[in-house]
Amino acid sequence: MSTSADPAPLSAAAQAQPNIALIKYWGKRDARLNLPAVGSISITLDRLWTRTCVRFDPQLAVDQVQLDGRTDAGGATRVCACLDLLRRRAGIDLRARVESWNNFPTGAGLASSASGFAALVTAADAALGLGMSPAECSALARQGSGSAARSIFGGFVEWHRGQRPDGGDSVAEPLLAAADWPLSVLVAITSRAIKSVGSTEGMNRTAASSPYWTAWLQAQMADLAQARAAIAGRDFERLAEVAEHSCLKMHALALAARPGLVYWNGATVEALHAVRALRAGGVPVFFTNDAGPQLKAICLPSAAERVARTLHAVPGVLEVVAAGLGEGARLIGADQVGAARAGAV
Ligand code: PMV
Repeated sequence: MSTSADPAPLSAAAQAQPNIALIKYWGKRDARLNLPAVGSISITLDRLWTRTCVRFDPQLAVDQVQLDGRTDAGGATRVCACLDLLRRRAGIDLRARVESWNNFPTGAGLASSASGFAALVTAADAALGLGMSPAECSALARQGSGSAARSIFGGFVEWHRGQRPDGGDSVAEPLLAAADWPLSVLVAITSRAIKSVGSTEGMNRTAASSPYWTAWLQAQMADLAQARAAIAGRDFERLAEVAEHSCLKMHALALAARPGLVYWNGATVEALHAVRALRAGGVPVFFTNDAGPQLKAICLPSAAERVARTLHAVPGVLEVVAAGLGEGARLIGADQVGAARAGAV
């Protein structure tokens, strides 16, 4: 039981949103530090979120991790490892209670680990009074899940490969704010099953066995440059071309691993063709897809309704989730975490 003499609890809450890569990250240059073999560029979403409350408590003997109201045995190891890094930085040894909610399905190719680790690091940084810069938060979130480095920031974001062996320069930075080029994102859910081969295993297998691995590494700089220029110039066609290229190239590489990684189902491919047919007919839209079966369509807001209707009509598409571009990770009130379920999409 706490008394008025107890020190104030070290707690804080944060919200972060998933991001979707337009120029893909696939492969690691250092597995232990989670350093990417290539740089990547993403967009951070609005509407979909993770809200996380972290409380360091002298009464606890072990870390307690809850996701969506249930003890999260699967994710707890990675969460504890990330908390260890924060504890080491703060010079404390207190265990923590972590309560996290997602308003979208976990583990189905919607990058819940990106928003999850970005929210965790942002909340724990405040709880421990570390006062880390966004770049430092990005580097720490990266060690929980690579793509989490990007969810620290909103809008269009680049995560640098970096050169340093300690990864100090492998952080994300914002390229353009969401409000400066609003785009719409329609996520066609084609399966709610947890993916069969996780991204880390998929990347390792690809690097070890795909004959296209070296070509992938060599071409990434040019793709990043094209995407950067397209974003700076708000050139939708140019961005569409290089983003679809990066997505198909990542999958070509993974398909050629041994054994091959096939993240698509039939509906993913049908939805991909539907997006291409729309663009051929003059609708400003392109597709991307990650290590799972959901197909993401990115379009100008004026085309969002038409794209959503088209994806709904694709056989095998279970649901279409609409989002815009959103903000980076930020602190929220602890009361907003408990109220999380009310806003589930
Ligand atoms: O951050 P991870 O380990 O979940 O890997 C993400 C990999 C892709 O989503 C396929 C690509 C990317 O850049 O997000």
